[in-house]
Amino acid sequence: MFPRIARLGVRIVKEATVGQHSLARRDYKRANLRHYLNPVRNILFSTTSNDGAHDEGSREKDKISVTFVDKDGDEKHIKVPIGMSMLEAAHENDIELEGACEGSLACSTCHVIVMDVKYYNKLEDPTDEENDMLDLAFGLTETSRLGCQVIASPELDGVRLALPSATRNFAVDGASETDDRKLCTKAV
Ligand code: FES
Repeated sequence: MFPRIARLGVRIVKEATVGQHSLARRDYKRANLRHYLNPVRNILFSTTSNDGAHDEGSREKDKISVTFVDKDGDEKHIKVPIGMSMLEAAHENDIELEGACEGSLACSTCHVIVMDVKYYNKLEDPTDEENDMLDLAFGLTETSRLGCQVIASPELDGVRLALPSATRNFAVDGASETDDRKLCTKAV
């Protein structure tokens, strides 16, 4: 009888010990898991300033560098969002590019000269309407374009645009195409 009770006692003590040991191991494993998971969770769900820096970085990636060179040779470096026209970019950065018709292809006052033919060749070909207006531009060159028709794209990153020393404003105002054109040349 006694040995049986003793065996039972030993068994109870053993199970209790093993149970505690298992619990301790489980707690240890959990703690260990938390140790490794927390940094991952922080990265995935963090709303700290790191995200802001990342956003800022990706916003910067959506912009290209453009340099405008005025008639005196002074340069202005700006960042232009992809999809924005050079006319809009110039206006946002206080660069003197007129754009009298606000991009409706009815003037040539947004005339710019692409300074590097490598960039000029990356542009979409001008439409007939743009070519018609360019024909009226003051100081037309082989790489002239209308600034309102040049749209920022990744390939244009680093482009340099010269502003002509003068622009010619042209308006038909419903008059006949030849006789009633009003032409004026204006120093920029
Ligand atoms: Fe008139 Fe570009 S702003 S054609």
